[in-house]
Amino acid sequence: MSSIPPDREDFKILIVDDTPANVEVLQKTLEVEGYNISVALSGEKALTIASRFMPDLILLDIMMEGMDGYETCRRLKADPKTTGTPVIFISARNDIEDVVEGFNQGGVDYIVKPFKSGEVLARVKTHLQLHSLKKQREALIQELEKKNEDLVSLNEIKNKFLGIAAHDIRNPLSSIKGFVELLELSGESFSQKEHDEMLQLVGKSVNEVLGMVDDLLDISVIESGNLKLDLGPGDLTALLKERIQINSGHARGKDISINEDFHDIEPIVFDRGRMAQVLDNLISNAIKYSPLGSSVFIELRQEDGWTHVRVRDEGQGIRPEDQEQIFRGFQKLGARPTGGEKSTGLGLAIVKNIVESHQGKIGVYSEVGKGSTFEVALPNLEMPDYRF
Ligand SMILES: Nc1ncnc2c1ncn2[C@@H]1O[C@H](COP(=O)(O)OP(=O)(O)OP(=O)(O)O)[C@@H](O)[C@H]1O
Ligand SMILES: [Mg+2]
Repeated sequence: MSSIPPDREDFKILIVDDTPANVEVLQKTLEVEGYNISVALSGEKALTIASRFMPDLILLDIMMEGMDGYETCRRLKADPKTTGTPVIFISARNDIEDVVEGFNQGGVDYIVKPFKSGEVLARVKTHLQLHSLKKQREALIQELEKKNEDLVSLNEIKNKFLGIAAHDIRNPLSSIKGFVELLELSGESFSQKEHDEMLQLVGKSVNEVLGMVDDLLDISVIESGNLKLDLGPGDLTALLKERIQINSGHARGKDISINEDFHDIEPIVFDRGRMAQVLDNLISNAIKYSPLGSSVFIELRQEDGWTHVRVRDEGQGIRPEDQEQIFRGFQKLGARPTGGEKSTGLGLAIVKNIVESHQGKIGVYSEVGKGSTFEVALPNLEMPDYRF
């Protein structure tokens, strides 16, 4: 852990004393060391200045006109803004009762006037160090508490998801089991055509289960940080055309038109298989969450050293509060598929991880009732500073 940083202007000290000559001596002593100083000539002023200036340490005289140092200290300690600020009393009163009273009021130290500047500096430095360590420790504790909360909520999401995934996988498995039993028991009574149809349905259910298991495996590989990209220069235009083609049956089934706005682009470096997954997820989501007869627009262009793919739909849109969640995985939110498609809530989490593994970015712009635009930006490696 670091001790006092060399730049002492980072530390603010408030001097409180109603005798200007005393203030001047202290101020000079501390300013020479580079501390950032503010001054209050009464207890009342100290309270207002402290809550604005937010000092790291307060040097407080005890015998003052009006509010004395003890009362000032009590009030500083009662204010949540200054309750943690260390207070050092400076006083000509050196009876043991006075010193004890100073500590009772929440002071951390007591310096007797007339003081030696070396002593003041040494005590100030020690208490600033202690205070700084205390603040660091509090920040660390807060960070740990936050991480703990995140872990608890992640665990809850995962448990919930496991239930959903088991249920989703159970459906196609039950249907496979049903067909297999039917064929086993009374296979001979079916015509060849019925036989083939049943086998086709079994094949479809097997593919559904495989798709889900693949997604689950992807998520666990990604979450363990083991996603390895197979990078190489490639033709993103050709890949995008291929993935649109593959999704066109799904779109036709819902009478959705896919419109291309492709600009000429230079080849870029990416992992072909992984990027196919990204494009498939975005295109299939656009179709999945759009009403029958609507349009999907897909744009490809290069700008400022970045390659952008934008997939826009005229679907139900995503609520602002859901827009961050949808990339977190295990999330199925407001929008539901419009054609009875499957939805496991893993696609975008996988997409985000793949895009970020390419040092790229993904964002969404969406208005409920109007539609959504998902944008992926992939950098040329010399230009990693793109911002949406
Ligand atoms: N284009 C879109 N329009 C509206 N909502 C969307 C869109 N794309 C995603 N969503 C919302 O984000 C959620 C998460 O999407 P994601 O692709 O991760 O999962 P999914 O489509 O439900 O399942 P899958 O794992 O099969 O992709 C969806 O359940 C949906 O509510
Ligand atoms: Mg999806």
